[in-house]
Amino acid sequence: MQQDYLKQPSLFLSEVEKSFVNRTKPQKNEQLKIGLDLGTASIVLVVLGQDNRPLAAAREFAEVVRDGLVVDYAKAIQITTRLRRSLEEDLGVELTQTAIAVPPGTSDRDTSTHRNVAYGAGLEVTTVMDEPSAANLVLGVKNGAIVDIGGGTTGVAVLQDGKVIHTFDEPTGGTHVTLVIAGHYKVSFAEAEKIKTDPSKKQINLPVIAPVLQKMGTIIKEGLKNFAVEEIHLVGGTSSAVGIEKIISLETKCKAVASAVPILVTPSGIALSFEPTI
Ligand SMILES: Nc1ncnc2c1ncn2[C@@H]1O[C@H](COP(=O)(O)OP(=O)(O)OP(=O)(O)O)[C@@H](O)[C@H]1O
Ligand SMILES: [Mg+2]
Repeated sequence: MQQDYLKQPSLFLSEVEKSFVNRTKPQKNEQLKIGLDLGTASIVLVVLGQDNRPLAAAREFAEVVRDGLVVDYAKAIQITTRLRRSLEEDLGVELTQTAIAVPPGTSDRDTSTHRNVAYGAGLEVTTVMDEPSAANLVLGVKNGAIVDIGGGTTGVAVLQDGKVIHTFDEPTGGTHVTLVIAGHYKVSFAEAEKIKTDPSKKQINLPVIAPVLQKMGTIIKEGLKNFAVEEIHLVGGTSSAVGIEKIISLETKCKAVASAVPILVTPSGIALSFEPTI
């Protein structure tokens, strides 16, 4: 029987996490799946092999996307090209195609910009999905909601019988959490980002960031009000924030559960959505 690496999502995600450092060369003629995530906080490129085997991934922190939309086109191409070349070097193969994803509700024009970044970096786009739907390719949620809280946006997909029946997106994310910390401690954005992600400062940060997390909770609640959602699956880097499950649960009156390695769910899902052109 074939092994599918996706059978256990948490194991799959931890393998993707390891593949940033330990890159594995594909076998000869191994079918690859490639996913490009152009995010507000970083650009990530993920490569999977046969049976969704995590082979390699690369990330560069970047400020080329704001509120889910590309604002520095040239730099986005430059970074994506660097990521592609670095992966090609280690994998010993050419990467020529990719899947991409955009926040729910992104216009055709903005989707074209994402597409053109990939193209400018030497990657033809084969598949375009909305971000939370891509995330669900990893999680396989049948009923409930997927909430992707990244750097710049909170994207939501409502699922019924495994199908996405509603999506929405709001420009609030980790950047806002960082800004609140910067204001509180009177430090630069970069310094505040360090304080935010320092595991030893988690408990001290909680009262400072709780109001922003509550605001995200009210956004999610408002977006879900016409749907009978019982469980919320949190993904995106901000879902690692201490206390987030409890705060979102309280605000939305739904059970909120953060995924394993939440920052990698959407980029991995984008790779899973890849369908090669013939
Ligand atoms: N341990 C942590 N605690 C709190 N926030 C974290 C942690 N680790 C990462 N983050 C935050 O997660 C965000 C990045 O997440 P992610 O990579 O999902 O965003 P993105 O995809 O680039 O953005 P978007 O999807 O909004 O365009 C950053 O704001 C980062 O500070
Ligand atoms: Mg994202």
